[in-house]
Amino acid sequence: MQIAQSILREELVVFEKKFREAVKSQAPLLDRIMRFIVNRKGKQLRPMFVFLSARLCGPVNESTYRAASLVEILHTATLVHDDVVDESLERRGFFSTYALWKNKVSVLVGDYLLAKGLLLSLDHDDFRILQLLSGAVRKMSEGELLQIEKARSLNLDESVYFEIIRNKTASLLASSCAAGAYSTSGNEQLSEKLSRFGEAVGVAFQIKDDLFDYGNEKTGKPTGNDLKEKKLTLPLIHTLNTVDKPLRRELIYIIKNQNRNPEKIKYVLAKVAEAGGIRYATEKMNQFRDEALAILYEFEDSEVRKGLEELVRFTTDRKY
Ligand code: IPE
Ligand code: IPE
Ligand code: MG
Ligand code: MG
Repeated sequence: MQIAQSILREELVVFEKKFREAVKSQAPLLDRIMRFIVNRKGKQLRPMFVFLSARLCGPVNESTYRAASLVEILHTATLVHDDVVDESLERRGFFSTYALWKNKVSVLVGDYLLAKGLLLSLDHDDFRILQLLSGAVRKMSEGELLQIEKARSLNLDESVYFEIIRNKTASLLASSCAAGAYSTSGNEQLSEKLSRFGEAVGVAFQIKDDLFDYGNEKTGKPTGNDLKEKKLTLPLIHTLNTVDKPLRRELIYIIKNQNRNPEKIKYVLAKVAEAGGIRYATEKMNQFRDEALAILYEFEDSEVRKGLEELVRFTTDRKY
């Protein structure tokens, strides 16, 4: 991320201050949790996409900064809620908010962040940007709910998988890029184009995230958690749709009834690798990466475009 970080050096310093300011609270417990959250910051990929998309279309202004903060606030809120939903104890290499403060507090902390995001936009009349991001939040909820529904019935349909990840993950990246472009251009067509770019990046991003669950790299969050939650992701969906019937039946039995047994899970992982599920998902991910790059190449070459290209490649090559 060197190019992007060096192009955005100034923006990111200012952003960090504004972001901290935006989530501050007078309530002691909330303030403590907010400090816990901002001190364990993530990769901040979405704000970088906001700033670079913005700079592709014009000079950064105050509404660009607010868009970047809004995006990171919404992202943080959904992570806090997501760890409750997924019963996941680790986030960003440390205990999750859910692990430390449990369900009730995590639900309310997520709600607090959502409200802070709304206020940040409304207090400055950033209506269009708020509209773009609210659309994403709606889709994220729909995506997470569809995922729960499909985990219960063990979804084997690739198109449903793509619908889920488009909604729960790609929508926010799409809106991040769209909001950035809108903040500096006010141009709907440009914004729409960057939205398509961000969506393709977002799909690739989630396939990569789902691949992490099949590995044992240290990513700062648990691996194997998706199977534990009966979330069937692309490597496994592909495997179940290609192996012979008896093996398929055996794998489904394990996922349904033995998904907390580490030995059995290891067996499933081995079968997925053997059946080419990892390779298949990686190829699909690269297709979406290339789709994003093709849209990007419609813009003239520039430092900012190089920064975006680097972020796209980071999305699929990253180790965390
Ligand atoms: C994690 O996103 C949630 C997904 C959409 C998979 P990131 O990997 O961008 O999370 P942080 O902010 O860097 O921790
Ligand atoms: C993405 O899915 C979650 C959100 C969009 C909030 P995951 O459940 O796979 O994300 P991680 O792996 O917990 O970060
Ligand atoms: Mg999760
Ligand atoms: Mg995941």
